[in-house]
Amino acid sequence: MASDSQERRPRLRIDIITLFPEYFAFPLKVGPVRRAIEHGTLEVNLLDLRSFADSPKEVDDYPYGGGAGMVLKPEPIVRAIESVHTPESLVILFSPQGERLNHERVKDLAGRRHLILICGRYKGVDERVRRWVDLEISIGDYVLSGGEPAALVLLDAVARWLPDSLGDKDSALTDSFETGLLDAPLYTRPPEFRGLKVPEVLRSGNHAEIRRWRRKQALLRTLLRRPDLLETQTLSEEDQRLLQEALEEFQQASSEETRPKEEGP
Ligand code: ADE
Repeated sequence: MASDSQERRPRLRIDIITLFPEYFAFPLKVGPVRRAIEHGTLEVNLLDLRSFADSPKEVDDYPYGGGAGMVLKPEPIVRAIESVHTPESLVILFSPQGERLNHERVKDLAGRRHLILICGRYKGVDERVRRWVDLEISIGDYVLSGGEPAALVLLDAVARWLPDSLGDKDSALTDSFETGLLDAPLYTRPPEFRGLKVPEVLRSGNHAEIRRWRRKQALLRTLLRRPDLLETQTLSEEDQRLLQEALEEFQQASSEETRPKEEGP
C-alpha cells in the first residue's frame, strides 16, 4: 500500500530554470494550471538561475570565437539541474533547434513524474549543457527572445492532461488532435448576428442530427485546412460518405458565392 507521503505526492512536478521567475507569476494562477496545482496533481517550482551563479552578474558571457550576442554559461545551469535531479527526471531545453512540440509529445510529458525545464536566453546556452539535457523542444519555426513563453505553452498543454485540471472533465478528449480532426465550428447566442445565422440544425434539438453535422464539419475543415491529419487515418464508410456530402455542399456554396448576384441588397 502507498504510504501517506506517497499519496500526497503530486502526479507531476515541474522545475523551471529561468532568469525571470516573476514571468510565471500570473500564468500559474489561471486555468488548468491553477486547478491542477490546487488539486495537488501538479507542483511547479521556479529556480532563479542567478542564484546558482558565483555572482548574480555571472550568468552569461561573450561567445568564444566572437559574434553577436551573449551565451548562458554552463555552471549555473548545470548546478540548477543537479539541485533537483532524480532518476525520474526528464531534462528539457527550449530552443528553436529542438523537436517541434506536438500533441503526442504533450501527452507523453503529462505521463511523466518530473520535468526540469531550462529556459534559454540571449543567443543561447553553452553547448556543453546539452550533456545534461534529455530532450530539446521548439514550439515553432521562429525565434523567441527566451524559452519562458515556450515553457508556458508546454505547461498549459500538459496541465490539460492532468486529473481535475479541466472544468469540463471530458473536454481534453474532444480537443482537436485527440480526435484526429479539427473542431467543428462553434456558435452561441444570439441566433442571428449582423445577418449571420446559426445553422438551423444546431437549434433543432435533434442530437443525432447535431452529432452528424458536427462530424461532417470537422471532417471538411480538416480536409481543407490540415489534409496531413487525414492522411494518417482510415476513415469509416460513414465518414467517407459525410465527407463526400460536405464537399459537395461546400462546392455548391462556393459557386453560389462567386455567381453574380441576381438581386442587389
Ligand atoms: N527559444 C527561442 N526560440 C524558441 C522556440 N521557437 N521554441 C522554443 N524555445 C525557443
